[in-house]
Amino acid sequence: MPRQPYGQANSPVETRTFLFQEFRIWTYINYLCAMLKNDLLLRVAKGEKAERTPIWLMRQAGRILPEYRAVREKLSGFKELATTPALAAEVTIQPVDILGVDAAIIFSDILVVPEAMGLIYEMYEAKGPVFPKVISTEKDITALKVKEAAEDLEYVYEAIRITKKELNGRVPLIGFAGAPWTILAYMIEGSGSKTFSKAKKFLYSEPVLAHLLLQKITDTTILYLKEQIRNGVDIVQLFDSWAGILTPETYNEFSIKYIAQICDAVTEVPVTVFAKGAFFARKEMGALNCRTIGLDWNMGIKESRALIGPEKTLQGNLDPCILYASKEEIKKHTNYMLKQFGSEKHIANLGHGVYPDTSVDKVKCFIETVKEYSFAAEKV
Ligand code: CP3
Repeated sequence: MPRQPYGQANSPVETRTFLFQEFRIWTYINYLCAMLKNDLLLRVAKGEKAERTPIWLMRQAGRILPEYRAVREKLSGFKELATTPALAAEVTIQPVDILGVDAAIIFSDILVVPEAMGLIYEMYEAKGPVFPKVISTEKDITALKVKEAAEDLEYVYEAIRITKKELNGRVPLIGFAGAPWTILAYMIEGSGSKTFSKAKKFLYSEPVLAHLLLQKITDTTILYLKEQIRNGVDIVQLFDSWAGILTPETYNEFSIKYIAQICDAVTEVPVTVFAKGAFFARKEMGALNCRTIGLDWNMGIKESRALIGPEKTLQGNLDPCILYASKEEIKKHTNYMLKQFGSEKHIANLGHGVYPDTSVDKVKCFIETVKEYSFAAEKV
């Protein structure tokens, strides 16, 4: 039926037929979108074979993109962006559109959990996060919220719902939280630190209180991740960014035990554990009830596979500084990395978050190199 120019009336029958046809076209487009769904990352996380290695970048939603900076500049700061669901969803999707990554990661921060538990944080441009009030006594720990904290994070859940709707199945959505030790480190220290010596002092001098606090963070994190999953995330990642400053013994006692509790509790979707610097705990990580282990650039690929075992998917681990090199160098290092990981059970990523001053062109070069790599050609 020819469509009437706008402003000219159709008969009721013509209008109904027209609407019905529009509905059919719309349904067909939705069907096609579902068919085109890129679920490479999920399949590989589950240990299945895939046509190629999937890729995403830690900290992909952020300052590397001028489009992110444009959204952020109009606001009072990072926190306003993170707590405004429609804008958080917008910057979550930017790297999918602009960089062509195989997954989106919800735009938020690991520090929203301590804030919801009762410790407000401020985010300063050059300095990073600061907690004006920190934890020092048992009373401070008792006052922290658990169930109400997970409920208070509704703005994250709303951002997830909007993102899922807008992604329309194009790529999976990654949810995340900080690992309990890393969250404790910020709650005690009150800011970033080179040594986190106040946080380590707390472990050594107040181990009973440290366990009390770690358990409360763990309980909150489990509720929080389950709520993220209920609202639509397809896979979750735990960031233990300060794992590497602990000794192997303290890591076993104060970190991995709590990560294990989270992995045992979160069974609905695949879980990734990324413990930066914890090269000494790779064997223990292999025993976790999770699907994927993230590697940083200090963890040798073949050695990590041998320590972690053949079952788990590995994620990583290009040095983010390689993205400052020429495109030829980036291609060379990326191809070498892919060859070492092999054709199965690998999700390409950097060994830590992408640095904010990395050029978008170089990031694209890394992504394209992974997408173009052929394991078949390698055998010839
Ligand atoms: O793209 C993504 O990865 C999603 C968003 C995300 C952010 N933070 C946004 C953010 C994620 C997954 C995080 C995790 C996070 N936050 C970690 C674990 C990963 C890691 O890097 O080890 C940690 C330790 C934090 C705490 C944090 N948040 C710090 C120390 C800082 C200041 C340093 C910095 O990078 O600026 C932040 C701020 C932050 N979180 C920014 C972004 C985009 C920059 C703030 C801004 O836009 O001004």
